[in-house]
Amino acid sequence: MSLKLNEKFLKGFIGPNEITSLAPQIKTAYETVSTRSGEGADYLGWLDLPVSYDREEFARIKDAAARIRNMCDILVVIGIGGSYLGSRAAIEFVKSPLYNSLPGNKPAVYFAGNTISPSALSDLLKICEGKDLCVNIISKSGTTTEPAVTFRIFRELLEKKYGTEGARERIFATTDKARGTLKTFSDKVGYETFVVPDDVGGRYSVLTAVGLLPIACAGIDIDAMMRGAADARKKYMNADVETNDCLRYAAIRNILYRKGKATEILAAYDPAAQMFCEWWKQLYGESEGKDNKGLFPASVIFSTDLHSLGQFIQQGTRNIFETIIDFKTSPDAVKIPYDPENIDGLNFLAGEDIHNVNRTATLGTLIAHTDGGVPNVVLEIADRSAYSFGYAVYFFELACAVSGYLLGVNPFNQPGVEAYKINMFALLGKPGYEETRANLSARMQDE
Ligand code: PA5
Repeated sequence: MSLKLNEKFLKGFIGPNEITSLAPQIKTAYETVSTRSGEGADYLGWLDLPVSYDREEFARIKDAAARIRNMCDILVVIGIGGSYLGSRAAIEFVKSPLYNSLPGNKPAVYFAGNTISPSALSDLLKICEGKDLCVNIISKSGTTTEPAVTFRIFRELLEKKYGTEGARERIFATTDKARGTLKTFSDKVGYETFVVPDDVGGRYSVLTAVGLLPIACAGIDIDAMMRGAADARKKYMNADVETNDCLRYAAIRNILYRKGKATEILAAYDPAAQMFCEWWKQLYGESEGKDNKGLFPASVIFSTDLHSLGQFIQQGTRNIFETIIDFKTSPDAVKIPYDPENIDGLNFLAGEDIHNVNRTATLGTLIAHTDGGVPNVVLEIADRSAYSFGYAVYFFELACAVSGYLLGVNPFNQPGVEAYKINMFALLGKPGYEETRANLSARMQDE
């Protein structure tokens, strides 16, 4: 089994029968998902994706990834939010946060269009100088400003470098199957396109072409990833709250929220999980944070952040709980050397693998934080394989949908994100947004 929920560190925070008492509501929330009967049910395409995904497109993804791996030194992945977090999380989780710097990793994969910082863009353009490039532009709507502006810059760069024909072979677009500016433009100029399915929202899209193409370009086994997700689906698609870890995680979050624990901190003991935490924050933040409700999703990497946020977690405002990602194994082994002079007094650790020291830090912190009044839920994950990544993605997606319905919100819309996008279009003077622009200008004068 790739993932196991350990509830040992919830003792004293959640009573022995509390989850069982909540079982009827959990069951209803789960059935709202499984029968596709709730608000936003049109966006439940990810639920069966691990078994019903488009095999023809999957083969095309692998084929395109092989060409990209052959053709370029750098793949620039342009996208924001759900259009980049999943693939970046996968590459760092399975390979390394230092993937681009490690020997033998070709192409390097850089992510752009997720900020409007001129410095970030200009640094990346410098890194790209003299290198062979490919671009994967990812935008479901095709209109989001950050990736659209960045794509215009990289398209011009590739057309100058390789000519229109050459650029066409190096640009891959992942977007809506029929609609939107990016789809229309891609069809017109002849880019190879991949589909963001209509029934899968951005933050649930990592197991579609949105995530799979960049992930495959980094040499990760996407078959294993889909197998992991399919096995998680088999394991968790049932309403048995007593045995279903996915439903129990949703229940625990809800119970703690009702007890005033309004911030959930996802903590991992490996920087390889940092972007996975970012992916998780978007998934839960956008799915639950609405109608004046929702847990605030935060994240930390330990033991690094024990030296910055550890103090707050141990003794600050008691409105937090932690969900711990506990990797049972590490793909790498580093042993602590023996020093005949024992100058630093560390010979008691000589020959010890650093992974074991890290696991000891996990245990010590779990005990300290629970002693300090912070409930801890532990998700034991077998390893950092592609299979486990797919498994964990499905676990968190299903738990998120159930949690959202349990909370009484639509877990599949994001009206708040749309609000900022509309204001930005209006303020930048995009045609069609004149009325909003006039309203905003009047308001700014008033204020
Ligand atoms: O989850 C979501 O829907 C959002 O975060 C989107 O992924 C993000 O806003 C990017 O949108 P798009 O892919 O349309 O450019």
